[in-house]
Formats: sequence, C-alpha cells, structure tokens
Amino acid sequence: MIDKINQLRAEIEAATAADLKEVEALRIKYLSKKGEVSLLMQDFRNVPAEQKRELGQKLNELKTLAGERIAALRESLENVESVDVDLDLTRTPSPLPLGTRHPLSLVRDEIVDIFSRLGCTIAEGPEIEDDWHVFSSLNFAADHPARDMQDTFFVTRNPDVLLRTHTSSVQSRVMEKTQPPIRIICPGRVYRNEAISARAHCFFHQVEVLYVDEHVSFADLRQALLYFAREMFGPDTKIRLRPSYFPFTEPSAEMDISCNLCGGKGCSFCKHTGWVEILGCGMVDPNVLEACGIDSTKYSGYALGMGVERITNLKYQINDLRMFSENDKRFLEQFRSAR
Ligand code: DAH
Repeated sequence: MIDKINQLRAEIEAATAADLKEVEALRIKYLSKKGEVSLLMQDFRNVPAEQKRELGQKLNELKTLAGERIAALRESLENVESVDVDLDLTRTPSPLPLGTRHPLSLVRDEIVDIFSRLGCTIAEGPEIEDDWHVFSSLNFAADHPARDMQDTFFVTRNPDVLLRTHTSSVQSRVMEKTQPPIRIICPGRVYRNEAISARAHCFFHQVEVLYVDEHVSFADLRQALLYFAREMFGPDTKIRLRPSYFPFTEPSAEMDISCNLCGGKGCSFCKHTGWVEILGCGMVDPNVLEACGIDSTKYSGYALGMGVERITNLKYQINDLRMFSENDKRFLEQFRSAR
C-alpha cells in the first residue's frame, strides 16, 4: 500500500489541467467515491494493526494534497477565464483622479509670470543661510531685533547657520556674483519663529524682485508696482504708497491696493479703509550695493518683496494661513488650473 500511496502522490503533484473540465476529471479520478484515493481509504480496513498508524497518516496527507492541488488548479483557471470573459478593449478606462495645483504654487507662478514680462529672470538661493546674506549685507545693524532668537531659527549653536527669514538674501547672493544690469525675481520659502495661528506661521513664502541698473528711479518702481497690481487684481486696481522703513532700502515704502472685495468703498475685509496692504519696497540702499561689490555712484536699483500667502488670501479670500499646510483635500481640490 505504501508504494501505491507514493505513486499517487507523485501523480497528483505533477497533475496539470488545461481547462475546468480537466480539473473535474482529476477530481473524479482521485477523490470521487470510486476514485483512487477513496479506494485506498476503503482498503485501509485490511491493513495490519501495527501499520495502521503510519499508513493512516500518509493516507490522510495524500487526501489533503489531492484536495488542495485540485482546488488550486481550479482557482488558477477560474481567474484566467473570468479575465477572458471581461476583456472588453473598447471599454473606457476608469478615470484616474487628477491632482490639483496648490493655491500657493498657482499664485507664485502668476507673480513670477507678471514680473518676467518686465524682464525678470528667476533666481534662487539656499533656505539654510548665513548671517551675512540674510542680515549684514542687507544693512541690518548688529543689534537689529530681527536677528534675535525671537524671530530667527538658528540651525546649530553657531549663530551663523540659520533659516532665512526673508528672500531678500537672494538679492545679495546675486549682486555679489553679477554686475548690473540685474533684473531678478526670487520666489522661495522663508522661516520665522512664530507661534502658529490663523494669521502667522513658522514658514511661509515670499517673492522678491530686484532691479539694478544705471538711472533706475523711484518712478520706475512705482510703474512696475502699478503694472503688477493691475495684472494681478484687475485693471481697475489702484495703488498707494506709504512711507516705511526697511534696513536695505532708502527710501522705503509699503504698498496698499484698493480693496479688491469692495472696490475701495470700505468693507469688513479692508477694515472699512478701502485699502489693503500687500508688499514692501524701496530704492536699494547704497550701503547694500557697496556691500555686494556694486558701485553705488554709478548704479541704483529698486527692490520689493511680498508674501505669497498674503496675495493668495486676498485673491481667494482665505482667512486662515494654516489651511495651506494641512493637506485637506476638500480645500485643495477647489483650486483647478489649466496650466
Ligand atoms: N524682506 C522684507 C520682509 O521680509 C520684505 C521686503 C521689503 C523686501 C522691502 C524688499 C523690500 O525687497 O524692498 O518683510
């Protein structure tokens, strides 16, 4: 009997089937009432008592093997056959959900587009910076509060390794390496040590513009600002410049645009003033030009910088900065773009 068991085991292990009918034939051959395995089971009665234990175990294993082998053959054929039945080459493929572009990327690209029409090319710099490019070269006094731990993230104990707090650092990097004419736009991420709230975040995005050449005047700056405001917020947009202070520009100004919600009549969004602030700007301080190796008696320039989040908030009336980094698809899917 042991020989018969071994022979059947080898047969079953090698068994193949081309279709489901052949699988059924195998089942009948081995497992039906008169099948080979069943017959062996019946013969088991005649096995001498001392062999019953060993042979019984072998016989059970054979039965299990046959059952599993036949089930496996059936399953593999059923899968193939069901694919064949379903295969319809004319069927429309299931739609792949397309992602959307992040609102900050959309707005950043729009800003970059507008200034590239004025001749600017993109310049980028590192997010991990040194004191010289973020502060010293930009005319920040040694005791300027912006250098303070309250504002700046230092990466190591060495106060010369820090996360840039503004993209103005790219100005000095470019001016150090290039002589005028310089016309650049620098988009990028910046970091400040702020508690996260609806109105402040520890990282955000800025776009910096720098134009240095002979005879660049404040009138050039004003015209570029007006062009930008109208392209970004519509042709009826008005601008106003208020005197301000930045270490790296002199004179400095902040620009407001007429409120794009109420058209300047006054609403809760613009706190009933009719104006909303959108950027800082000014004429590059001669100290900055000189620090970067540019002759300030020959060249002058203007610079401006704005927060991408701020422009996006205005354009889409978003009033919580945290939405930009929460990855909530319900928010993000509202921004579709043809680009
Ligand atoms: N760097 C300034 C900030 O982070 C923004 C800024 C103001 C940039 C005036 C400029 C500028 O280039 O001229 O708040």
